[in-house]
Amino acid sequence: MSEYPDAEMEALVAAAATMSGLSASVVLEDFGVFIAPPLMNMYGHLIPGDWKTLDVIEKTEETIHHVVRVQTPGAKPPVLHTIRRSEDEVVLIYSSPRKLCALAIGIARGVAKQFNETIEVARTNVRTMALPIVRLSSARDGNSGN
Ligand code: HEM
Repeated sequence: MSEYPDAEMEALVAAAATMSGLSASVVLEDFGVFIAPPLMNMYGHLIPGDWKTLDVIEKTEETIHHVVRVQTPGAKPPVLHTIRRSEDEVVLIYSSPRKLCALAIGIARGVAKQFNETIEVARTNVRTMALPIVRLSSARDGNSGN
């Protein structure tokens, strides 16, 4: 069981929140932004070159988390469900009992940062943990003249 690591994580987040004066969810989100690039580098071989932020979010479950579960004994990444509403919108349904929703949002933002894209996360339904994520801009959008 992973009760101890989870409890340690909670204690660390609480300590960091107290020390920084930020809320626990801001600390968790920042942590997600911070760990996304190294995670993506570690599993870069599973990410096709034409994927961008929303593709990674949409397909993390079937590609990355699935492989992590098989290859890393003891690792329990959450099951992520997604609905790709359009080229520029994906709904992420995060329902892990760990309730690390802010971490999921942070990882999504960190992934976007890697791709030089801007996303907006709207947490509309707390009960179902459905997070609509919209791509606002991409490095490819053509502001090259600026
Ligand atoms: C880009 C490549 C990614 C890799 C390599 C990766 C890998 C992992 C690993 C190793 C864990 C820890 C499992 C454990 O504690 O036992 C984890 C947890 C987690 N992942 Fe990912 N992940 C990736 C992308 C994502 C994305 C895009 C999201 C959501 C936007 C996400 C959401 C989470 C969350 C919220 C957790 C915390 C554990 C929980 O909620 O139960 N991950 N991931």
